[in-house]
Amino acid sequence: MTVERCKGSPFAKHRPAASAGRTAHWNRIYGTRTAAERSWTQKRPARSLAFVRAARLPAGSLLLDAGCGASTLADHLLRQGRLNLVLVDVSSKALRETRSRLGRRAAGVRWLRADLAADRLALPIDLWHDRAVLHFLTRAPERRRYFENVRRCVRPGGFVVLSGFAPSGPEQCSGLPVRRRSAADLMRELGPQFRLLRRSSERHRTPWGGLQDFVYLLARRRLRPPRSAGPQSVLPDDPPPGPVAPSAPPRSTSQAPS
Ligand SMILES: C[S@@+](CC[C@H](N)C(=O)[O-])C[C@H]1O[C@@H](n2cnc3c(N)ncnc32)[C@H](O)[C@@H]1O
Repeated sequence: MTVERCKGSPFAKHRPAASAGRTAHWNRIYGTRTAAERSWTQKRPARSLAFVRAARLPAGSLLLDAGCGASTLADHLLRQGRLNLVLVDVSSKALRETRSRLGRRAAGVRWLRADLAADRLALPIDLWHDRAVLHFLTRAPERRRYFENVRRCVRPGGFVVLSGFAPSGPEQCSGLPVRRRSAADLMRELGPQFRLLRRSSERHRTPWGGLQDFVYLLARRRLRPPRSAGPQSVLPDDPPPGPVAPSAPPRSTSQAPS
């Protein structure tokens, strides 16, 4: 079992500083915080699993978990045994943690260390899943490269599940600023090639009891590009489910996770 490194990026000349900084940041996070000290940890990624199930992918389809980190989404999907997985992250430490947790089951997974905002991915994907990754891309060129990767990889008729902090969610995570979005914002960025199938909001409880508002959406890539690339018709967002208590770090640790 090997971890591939994305090579030959046409963006190479733009990437070193920001990309190396991202890798260093996330390696430091995974190297110094336990799962219980990371705000995004979930025992069971129930909403992601429900949205993946809603896509009703045929057995053998390829799911890419973009910025998989140490998520247990792979554990659950491998247990179901229906899908093939590509796990991608900018952090080698995160990939190592997930691989060692999966043990022998890791051999059936394709591992890729890549920066989705800098490297060029070209894999035919049936479902692109992202929880809490895209929202770190606060600069327009990074988002452009990320969405170019989505559009290059997700085949016509394929799906995307995107989730991140809602407009009422936190302004930062793990010490980094984030870009908060509604489902309508996400659909605008995906572009008219994608059709919204489902969306929902979730109040995530951090391991130390803080609350964070997320949005989730499931969209499908049209079989043919739409005739006009005009504005998308998207339902207005659900009203936010009420005020959110500020998330507080666990008292027992000296380093404050966020
Ligand atoms: C908040 S964590 C979420 C991890 C996982 N998706 C989950 O739900 O548990 C963000 C993850 O995105 C990864 N990441 C951040 N920026 C990235 C990028 N540009 N390309 C690939 N991975 C990235 C980080 O290393 C980290 O594992």
